[in-house]
Amino acid sequence: MTDKRRAFGRYFDNPDDLFNWLNQAVFGTAVMNALNRAGVTARILEGPVSVAELADAGDIPADLLGRMIDFLAAHEMLELDADGLVRGSSRTAMMLEASGFLTNVEISGRACAQLLPALREGKTPFEKAYGEPVFDYFHSHPDMAAGFGQFMGFMTRRVQRFIFSQHRFQPFETVADIGGSMGDMLLAILGEYPGTRGIVFDRPDVIEIARPKVEASPLAERVELVGGSFFEAVPAADLYILKQILHDWDDEECRRILGSIRAAMKPGARLAVIDHLLSDIPQPDESIGTDIAMMVWDTGRERKQSDFEALFTSAGFRIDRVTPNPNGHSVIEVVPV
Ligand SMILES: C[S@@+](CC[C@H](N)C(=O)[O-])C[C@H]1O[C@@H](n2cnc3c(N)ncnc32)[C@H](O)[C@@H]1O
Repeated sequence: MTDKRRAFGRYFDNPDDLFNWLNQAVFGTAVMNALNRAGVTARILEGPVSVAELADAGDIPADLLGRMIDFLAAHEMLELDADGLVRGSSRTAMMLEASGFLTNVEISGRACAQLLPALREGKTPFEKAYGEPVFDYFHSHPDMAAGFGQFMGFMTRRVQRFIFSQHRFQPFETVADIGGSMGDMLLAILGEYPGTRGIVFDRPDVIEIARPKVEASPLAERVELVGGSFFEAVPAADLYILKQILHDWDDEECRRILGSIRAAMKPGARLAVIDHLLSDIPQPDESIGTDIAMMVWDTGRERKQSDFEALFTSAGFRIDRVTPNPNGHSVIEVVPV
């Protein structure tokens, strides 16, 4: 069942609602990004603090900061007590936790402005806006790559409880997270499955960004970090994870990634694809939004289960088990035929 209340069409029934909704979303994102980056959010979370002190800490004019604090208080993102002190809440903590995601919204905005001309020119909007395909751009902008990695960690924390409670993996010795970013998913899996070992595989530049965090983990001795391209070759393992990878690429590119995995799989190995599943009938859910995000960012798309079936068949796999998640990423476990 879909929650039709999520459909933004209803805002168009009333021009006041439409104006208010878009304004709050666009400018709210800007305010949250500014305060996260200035260190203001972190300072609020340390304990009650005056606007003047926050203005000094964040190097922001106090009157302008005061208006942004009022805005966030009005939206119940933080609290202003009777003597004007600013107090954080669990929502303020979430605002900081979501900083990678909020940055991503900003990056997407610049690419979205190029949607129509880019599609007419046969480019991705991201490439038209930023001059390079997304992962090459991250290679030349490590700060942005690190922010993107943080966003991926946020997305992983959102879904891992669902995965571990609803989709138990069969016994395995070594799990390889292909395109594993900062290692968040891999570390979560090793924590959940004691006695196993794991590999984070990603582009060499991304692996170097991930290294300090992974090596600082108490599970570090069970982890191997491997740099490379999944279009060429991946390490041997008996459980593979592809989380939010296939949705970045078109079918032909996906077949190359799947081919690398198939060639490396140990006997009896399995592949768990963790991605959104598009509904057969369009619904105003997360997947239909990220489908357009993939159109803006890269050559990928979200897929229906029937699209995945056709893709896997053409790459020499068959679907063994599907655990659908109506509120996020589903798990599609496949085996080679
Ligand atoms: C959308 S992110 C998903 C990250 C992670 N799997 C997750 O769900 O949190 C895509 C990942 O693919 C990686 N990637 C892109 N091209 C790659 C390539 N040719 N070989 C290996 N990894 C690649 C990116 O660096 C990035 O970490």
